[in-house]
Amino acid sequence: MDKERLVSQTASRTDDNSETKLTQASAKPNGLESVYEPIRNEMGAVESILRNELSNEVPFVDELLKHSWLLGGKRIRPAFLLLCGASCGTTSKAHLQIAAALEMIHTATLIHDDILDEALTRRHRATANSTWGNKVSVLLGDYLFTHSFHVASLSESCEALRMLAVASNRVCEGEMRQNAWQGKFDLTESDYLQMITEKTAELCGVSCRLGAYLSGASEEQCENFESYGRSLGVAFQVIDDVLDLVGKPNQVGKTLGTDLVNQKPTLPVIHCLQNMAPSSQEQFKSILADSASTCESLMPFLDNTDSICYARSVAENHAKGAMEFAESLPSSPASNSLGDLAKFVLSRSH
Ligand code: IPE
Ligand code: IPE
Ligand code: MG
Ligand code: MG
Repeated sequence: MDKERLVSQTASRTDDNSETKLTQASAKPNGLESVYEPIRNEMGAVESILRNELSNEVPFVDELLKHSWLLGGKRIRPAFLLLCGASCGTTSKAHLQIAAALEMIHTATLIHDDILDEALTRRHRATANSTWGNKVSVLLGDYLFTHSFHVASLSESCEALRMLAVASNRVCEGEMRQNAWQGKFDLTESDYLQMITEKTAELCGVSCRLGAYLSGASEEQCENFESYGRSLGVAFQVIDDVLDLVGKPNQVGKTLGTDLVNQKPTLPVIHCLQNMAPSSQEQFKSILADSASTCESLMPFLDNTDSICYARSVAENHAKGAMEFAESLPSSPASNSLGDLAKFVLSRSH
């Protein structure tokens, strides 16, 4: 894939920030501070675990590990776990350890995903692959995966470890499925939803289940919390796919346009192809296949079929059930934040 093409895709959607400026950007508040307020201390403790665990006496290894937690991302999966845990009772040291492990697994998947997508920017800075190359980045991702299970084992919960392992397998299955479907834009919506459930929603679902489980919730409650997280995970990925097409790189903080460059079938494009006039399909498909095409060249087609709005409505439908579940919980700062998190997933610009 053409690195210059990705840079130009990003630059064409940027007002005053070039990709180079993005990589130099400093940490910014992620806009979720008030939602995370009920678990502020616990989130701080998770951050400390990440900082302490991801350090090494070998300077080069230390530099790589620092890269994986420095600046952070939204930390939405640890927040899911801690808010669900707090909604069910009290949170313990095990919650913190498993939350840190979850964030390590998530970060490992991003580091490997950026290799696959040949992405240049992540979390407002240069990706590991663009800084140290693919080989080192594969190893960094591996380290994070293995170390996550070491940290999770400190919780001494075999069941939590099992849940983490199953969900991690699913993420990999989803990424493999996506890779196999490269260029398959005639994918059905239900195949697309299954793929994003695996690659994204499973980890969100298990984050919520684990929070509830570690707080002693019943199996039925655990199921409900998992389903809340899974629905929001689907909505989260659909919105991510919309942002890849129409987001602002300086807000999102990662290379955009990668789905088109990598020929990933995403919901707006799938919907557009299914709903456009048959006479336009050939032209649309040739734009999709042309390695010089930008997301802007897809916009007239997507506008004609209202496919961005359609994708947002699919995300809303998935988030709706999650919001209703949050509202059905006994009112508390944590359960209120679960409702706010559902709203954030739909309105996010990063
Ligand atoms: C990015 O996840 C990958 C997807 C599942 C879409 P996040 O948007 O949660 O990434 P960070 O952790 O905030 O950077
Ligand atoms: C989510 O897919 C990646 C993982 C679940 C690992 P994307 O490829 O859309 O994620 P971003 O957009 O690069 O963050
Ligand atoms: Mg990607
Ligand atoms: Mg994406």
